[in-house]
Amino acid sequence: MMLKFQHGQYGRNAGIKERLHLRLFLRCTRSHEGENRIMNLSIFGLGYVGVVSVACLAARGHIITGVDVNEEKVRLVDAGLSPITEQDVPELLARAHKDKLICATTDAHAAILATDMAIICIGTPSMENGSLDIRHIESVASSIGLALAQKKGKTIIVLRSTVLPGTTQDTFIPLLEKTSGKKNNQDFFTVYHPEFLREGSAVADFNSPPKIIVGTAHQESGMLVLELYNGISAPQFVTDFPTAEMVKYADNAFHAVKITFANEIGLLCKSFGVSAHQVMDIFRQDKKLNISGTYLSPGFAFGGSCLPKDLRALDYAARNARVEVPMLNSVLESNRAQIRGAVELIMETGKKKIGIAGISFKAGTDDVRESPMLEVAGILLEKKCEVRIFEPLIDPDKLLGVNREYLEKRLPGFKRMLAGSLDELIDKSELVIIGNRNPLFAGITGKISGAKQVLDCAGFERMTDETRRYTGICW
Ligand SMILES: NC(=O)c1ccc[n+]([C@@H]2O[C@H](COP(=O)([O-])OP(=O)(O)OC[C@H]3O[C@@H](n4cnc5c(N)ncnc54)[C@H](O)[C@@H]3O)[C@@H](O)[C@H]2O)c1
Repeated sequence: MMLKFQHGQYGRNAGIKERLHLRLFLRCTRSHEGENRIMNLSIFGLGYVGVVSVACLAARGHIITGVDVNEEKVRLVDAGLSPITEQDVPELLARAHKDKLICATTDAHAAILATDMAIICIGTPSMENGSLDIRHIESVASSIGLALAQKKGKTIIVLRSTVLPGTTQDTFIPLLEKTSGKKNNQDFFTVYHPEFLREGSAVADFNSPPKIIVGTAHQESGMLVLELYNGISAPQFVTDFPTAEMVKYADNAFHAVKITFANEIGLLCKSFGVSAHQVMDIFRQDKKLNISGTYLSPGFAFGGSCLPKDLRALDYAARNARVEVPMLNSVLESNRAQIRGAVELIMETGKKKIGIAGISFKAGTDDVRESPMLEVAGILLEKKCEVRIFEPLIDPDKLLGVNREYLEKRLPGFKRMLAGSLDELIDKSELVIIGNRNPLFAGITGKISGAKQVLDCAGFERMTDETRRYTGICW
């Protein structure tokens, strides 16, 4: 039926419904031409993310209907003009308009009926109290749901806006289902697909993204979304909704931390009369410990003879120089909170016989100076727990110097607490704590039985266990 329309049959002044029909026709003709499957897309929200998506996806040959509640933005995009200032976007929109690949409307209903995939790039600003305002997302979900109620074909709904973990599953999909009277994964399909572009280099970022993530409960729909990026080289990840939602927040939190870190180090450099640029230039060259995955696995508090001491020294020097470095100042407090959190988790189990496998501040050393697990052991003793320790790398009779003094001062009864083997530790404990990543401690959970429990502070076993036989310190 669609093929009866001719190119140019609808002029610039035709109504949106007629022009959306024309786009269906264009798809039918073009899909045979190129290698990529041409898709008929609606893009909701013609802000920074939405307009860049319109421009870049049209440049890849897709047929796009932009949707916004703002009539001026709709008028501009419909005329092939950019409502935002962003490099390359005006040219891409002008070309797409000339090729009749884009149109825009305020009519969400018509857009959903005419497209196979709706991409939601609606704003999610902050409320005054800091919470995320998802009212626009809720409103667009309701409009889309009402249109889905009348739609015969199956539509993929792709949420691109940044939303907190749980929003897609617990708010967005239920609203779509309620207003459409249809079922997700049966009558329509939902994908969460976070956006990573940066304003100012958004088109370049779209064409060369750091990664592409889809969160979905329907593999085939996730694959169709990935198809939009055919030929673009980037690591791709297909995962569940909340993981995809949280990755975006982990990324942005890390980016903010990096910027603040560089600024605070800059301030300290300036107060010492050192060149901040030279320090950070050298810092960035270290791809082994600095710009790398090292130290980026969730685990337990840091300790040892260097990190706590050196942060204290910087903190003191900053206060002396009246330099404000609140992020660096709060690092040791955050570390102490990890130790308090571990003690709370242990006390919550109600277990009193606690076995600690690994008390050195990290695997591969007998150094216990400022070991967070040593702190935990001390607090547990104060709380009248029976503490046993297995640390194959420590022979108390051979410890020397400040390391020995530290141990004797912090944990005077250390020698008496030592278990002769891991089996003995497990046997005599109700709760076993994995304290560091000594390879001997891998698989401890598989060795416990009955009512015994494991608390993993080393990120060794990466399990989640609803019976709470295994608990991770922060996973
Ligand atoms: N701007 C960025 O660089 C960037 C990067 C990655 C992710 N994000 C995320 O992407 C989302 C969009 O960000 P943005 O900067 O493009 O937002 P924006 O505020 O620039 O644009 C949002 C658009 O949505 C429109 N809108 C609101 N309600 C609507 C409705 N019911 N129907 C249709 N349109 C509606 C608004 O009129 C506006 O044009 C946010 O969640 C943001 O956090 C933004």
